[in-house]
Amino acid sequence: MSNKEDHVRNEIIFLTSNVNKFREAQSVLNRFGIRLKRMGMLERLEIQSESLEEISIYSAIHGYQMLRKPVITEDAGLFVFALRGFPGPYSSYIFRTIGVHGLLKLLDDITQRNAIFKSVVTFFDGTFLKTFSGTVQGEIATECKGNKGFGFDPIFTPKHASNKTFGEMNKTEKNKYSHRAKAFTKFAKWYSSTFKIKPS
Ligand code: IMP
Repeated sequence: MSNKEDHVRNEIIFLTSNVNKFREAQSVLNRFGIRLKRMGMLERLEIQSESLEEISIYSAIHGYQMLRKPVITEDAGLFVFALRGFPGPYSSYIFRTIGVHGLLKLLDDITQRNAIFKSVVTFFDGTFLKTFSGTVQGEIATECKGNKGFGFDPIFTPKHASNKTFGEMNKTEKNKYSHRAKAFTKFAKWYSSTFKIKPS
């Protein structure tokens, strides 16, 4: 492959309007010499589905069809055990409607506060359609803590993290535990070995 093609190969469009997601993902991929270019969702590409995989794959295929360039999409969700996995694939709707405080209210007086964050990353370049997932176990805190990050970060305490919420962590620290960092690391390993990308 020529240098020019190498350069193009090293840049992938991440279809997301969420700048925090983009920064977390780029920070993981930096170690592998892979660069992302952020593009807000071109239009409402998401379907409504109970499967993060289905949502992520659908968005990647449609994103590629519109751009004709390698794309990555990610869909994530927060699954609370005491609520039988709710909000899961509906996390974004719940965040926009009842928000973090509404979710805390649903868990009033509930002591079993286990939850999982899951991220599903899909890559599509017209030939390879690959999906990678990452999860992190933790608990829903009893109140908001910290003002870093986004979404449900201030109420999610990952396991083995000294009781800190994601909202109290900077990007580097969150990436040691996060669902997104795990999914993007799997992607980066596959991508760099498939396309022989070396860290620059
Ligand atoms: P999305 O559909 O992938 O954007 O994620 C659904 C919702 O889950 C978002 O609106 C966020 O509120 C929440 N979410 C996803 N990932 C994270 C995260 O890493 N931290 C906190 N909240 C998240």
